[in-house]
Amino acid sequence: MAEKKIIAVAGATGGQGGGLVRAIMSDPDGGFTARALTRNVDSPKARELAALGAEVVAADLDDVASLERAFEGAYGAYCVTFFWEHFSPEKENKHAKNMAAAAKTAGVQHVIWSTLEDTRRWVPLDDDRMPTLMGSYKVPHFDAKGEVDHVFTDLGLPTTHLLTSFYWDNLIHFGMGPKKGEDGTFLFTLPMGEGKLPGIAVEDIGRSAYEIFKRGDEFIGKTVGIAGEHLTGAEMAAALARAYGEEVRYNAVEPEVYRGFGFPGAEDLGNMFQFKRDFQEDFCGSRDLDFSRELLPSMQTFDAWLAENASRIPRE
Ligand SMILES: NC(=O)c1ccc[n+]([C@@H]2O[C@H](COP(=O)([O-])OP(=O)(O)OC[C@H]3O[C@@H](n4cnc5c(N)ncnc54)[C@H](OP(=O)(O)O)[C@@H]3O)[C@@H](O)[C@H]2O)c1
Repeated sequence: MAEKKIIAVAGATGGQGGGLVRAIMSDPDGGFTARALTRNVDSPKARELAALGAEVVAADLDDVASLERAFEGAYGAYCVTFFWEHFSPEKENKHAKNMAAAAKTAGVQHVIWSTLEDTRRWVPLDDDRMPTLMGSYKVPHFDAKGEVDHVFTDLGLPTTHLLTSFYWDNLIHFGMGPKKGEDGTFLFTLPMGEGKLPGIAVEDIGRSAYEIFKRGDEFIGKTVGIAGEHLTGAEMAAALARAYGEEVRYNAVEPEVYRGFGFPGAEDLGNMFQFKRDFQEDFCGSRDLDFSRELLPSMQTFDAWLAENASRIPRE
């Protein structure tokens, strides 16, 4: 039997990378195997991946030599950075450059770079529709990814740029679920007005990435956007109400109110939602639903995701 092609996966113990490792390892006849990158090979999550049969290797995005070792002999590399670990656009830039350099040294044949739009192409820094943050960004965790898209292609790496969408899992892990208002009714708060928010189950990002690797060179040199659904805040609240079996009201606040909520990253997210609201034709257009389902026919809808996960959303 032919040797299996190795896919080296950054962030393997996290949402996107974890989904990819599980997709690869649940398809033993697919011709691929996963190499899971982690800073701690002994963590419970790393052990879970090893138990699936994945090779688990130590690597740190700060350390190019560790990435070179981790990418050596790999056919593919899934490259993702972790803004919310450090809140530093410069660190995200550096991590992307380190992965690109290591992929080049290792001669990786297909890189998937998990990216987002550089929103300054739509809202330049001197445009005061939204505040400039951290000196030179509008949506730091978007801009920092989009501005280094070129580092992979500059090195001549065969690359697919993957535009991801808002994880519905943020309702569980990021404090974005409905909260009880003063009258005891659940309020689902988003600064999106009537705008549609492309969303996805994070597990489906990794599954889609696996489909992209499986399709060989079809998406090399291309930008691919994925989403499970494009839903308004009102539509999401209605789905949450169906899942909870009680009223959930959409609470459409203005972006400037959201930016003032005071939690770490509130300004960044306020700008992000405003960008998605104000440029939704472009933003939704880059995440076509027919394409997403053609790529991954099992792509979940919000209702399907809620059927499995609504009980995990904290209810206060
Ligand atoms: N939340 C959303 O809606 C959303 C939507 C689209 C895009 N994104 C983007 O997704 C990215 C995060 O991806 P994710 O959600 O899959 O991450 P995640 O679930 O937060 O996982 C992060 C993993 O990265 C690893 N990690 C962190 N720092 C590392 C380093 N220096 N070197 C090596 N590994 C490191 C950690 O693994 P170990 O501890 O095992 O090393 C951790 O398990 C962010 O940049 C965010 O902007 C998020």
